[in-house]
Amino acid sequence: MTTWPTRVRGLAWGADYNPEQWPEDVWSEDVELMRRAGVNLVSVAIFSWALLEVEEGRYEFGWLDRVLDRLHEGGIWVDLATATAAPPPWLTTAYPEVLPETADGVRLSHGSRQSYCPSSPVYRAKAVALARALAERYREHPALAAWHVNNEYGCHVSRCYCDRCAVAFRAWLRARHGTLDALNDAWGTAFWSQHYTSWEQILPPRATPTSHNPGQLLDFDRFSSDALLELFKAERDVLRELTPDVPVTTNFMAAGFSGLDYWKWAAEVDFVSNDHYTRGEDDERHIDLAYSADLVRGLAGGRPWLLMEHSTSAVNWQPRNIAKLPGELRRNSYAHLARGADGTLFFQWRQSRAGSERYHSAMVPHAGPDTKVYREVEQVGAEYGRLAELVGSTVAAEVAVVFDWESWWALSQPNHPTGDFAYPAHVFAHYRALWRAGVTVDFVPPGADLSRYRLVVVPALYAVDDATPYEEYVAGGGHLLVTYLSGVTDTRGHVHLGGYPGAFRELLGVRTEEFHPLRADQVVALDDGSTAAVWTEHLHADGAKVLASYTDGPLPGVPAVTRNERGDGVAWYVACGLVGDGLARLLRTAVEQAGVPLGPGGDVEVVRRRGEVAGSAVSWLVAVNHGSRDAKLPVTGVELLSGARVPGGVVVPAGGVVVIREEEV
Ligand code: GLA
Ligand code: ZN
Repeated sequence: MTTWPTRVRGLAWGADYNPEQWPEDVWSEDVELMRRAGVNLVSVAIFSWALLEVEEGRYEFGWLDRVLDRLHEGGIWVDLATATAAPPPWLTTAYPEVLPETADGVRLSHGSRQSYCPSSPVYRAKAVALARALAERYREHPALAAWHVNNEYGCHVSRCYCDRCAVAFRAWLRARHGTLDALNDAWGTAFWSQHYTSWEQILPPRATPTSHNPGQLLDFDRFSSDALLELFKAERDVLRELTPDVPVTTNFMAAGFSGLDYWKWAAEVDFVSNDHYTRGEDDERHIDLAYSADLVRGLAGGRPWLLMEHSTSAVNWQPRNIAKLPGELRRNSYAHLARGADGTLFFQWRQSRAGSERYHSAMVPHAGPDTKVYREVEQVGAEYGRLAELVGSTVAAEVAVVFDWESWWALSQPNHPTGDFAYPAHVFAHYRALWRAGVTVDFVPPGADLSRYRLVVVPALYAVDDATPYEEYVAGGGHLLVTYLSGVTDTRGHVHLGGYPGAFRELLGVRTEEFHPLRADQVVALDDGSTAAVWTEHLHADGAKVLASYTDGPLPGVPAVTRNERGDGVAWYVACGLVGDGLARLLRTAVEQAGVPLGPGGDVEVVRRRGEVAGSAVSWLVAVNHGSRDAKLPVTGVELLSGARVPGGVVVPAGGVVVIREEEV
């Protein structure tokens, strides 16, 4: 099995390419401009179903043949899509049951994209047939480098509540729980008269008078992620059968998308690819980008991954679509590269004239190549040509953050102690503090082997059956920092009794008797100068040392932050919503005590990749300066973009980028 599109030499650079939106005479110019821009990989046919299968079972591949041939003549590789992300109107007209349904019973129509139900046998059969037809036709095509299955599974429809999904959900529940008794127990159906006496009574969580059963919601989230994953696997298996040497991927939306449990998905792709878009109005969008990139590297198990999509400038789906600043496209690409991407592609190659994404930027803007955007595209394309030696190198981190889609699902349910808590924002707050301290982090799934990390941060790991992996980690000398709302329930959603934070209570040496979430905008003070918002709890130290207590608010004198020494290790507990400087200080202290060096921090992002050149171990520093002042980086080696030797230090220009092959000094 091939786990990377190795036919592409060097770092991948390119875009989604949608030539069917243009007359054929534009295609020649496309290839010419791609060559000028150093493009070596494009994703083709992602939304081409209606033009490939023009009526049921009648395929028209002629235009795609010509596109692929031209790309090949131009030396450009193809990440060929299976084109199944948008069923054509003929299909949903002939088979309306393909269409998905909302929780309110509204059947969604065709006319945009992704209008399919994950459990529809018709959709599945047609999608697999199309994937097979494409693989049969193009298996020997010399441009084929990788398969791009579907597109952003779940992006618009990650949950479908139709009758077919009800049937599939029941089958999934039978496989998970075995018996109705087990299901009744897991869901706690003794409450509110929900006891089931037959499988047929069980429904997806459709519109109801008030809140749903939490077990039903959580299992429906799991089922929905699995149902889409089954669709992916059905297409993937056909591709693997026909083209075993061509790696298969599907593009994730890892940061910010709760629909799929990407830890499970990542195990099924040959290589991980991801889409990431910055929010133009967010002044810290570069930190959000780094967060995405690190999470994706975690999904890739530390191996290189591909940025399948980002934007050269504005998108078209935010409230205000802010154009990127000069140099921002370049910084964005390098920031992904620094964090393990072996290629950065865009949506899309040529900006559309028509259709709902007309105002989304592309590598070739409406205004043509004589533009800031295309010039920057050309610049980075040329630079990537000088960086081929980085391919295959990896990023090593000494700090890990545990990320859990199931806890995200569970904490997104209604009827929790506060509506002010948001799982992704909470994880990001901790990530951000580490980023600002210049610390590179890995993301790991719950239960991962933690032994190679010096510090592990566990933000709101809510649904935990058993804390053994964390206990072993601390016993072995690890430093663990756990935040509130961790270990509260098991993975069925049942609360661990005897005091919070349930599964972690003993390891942390604490016991909480009651949650005291704060009022909106309420801020409480701690005796170490920190402040907290959103959350406090009535905590008792039960062996742990108290580092800070509240001086006001609902719990004056009660411990807020504790530290428990166990074996050779340390377990911190943060029982409140520390904000700003307090959170930054705490994380820096934990990092320092764990013996992890702090980076330059501030606006300069520096990440080290390690690999081999001609059999010898080599490391590279990729530095991206997001600030408005030049910065000096103490390093000796060769700066690969300029080719200059830098003895003892290099200037990272304001808004600029450097890549240094390091030398030992
Ligand atoms: C997603 C999709 C693309 C395009 C972009 C626009 O990432 O995969 O087809 O719609 O968004 O930002
Ligand atoms: Zn459905």
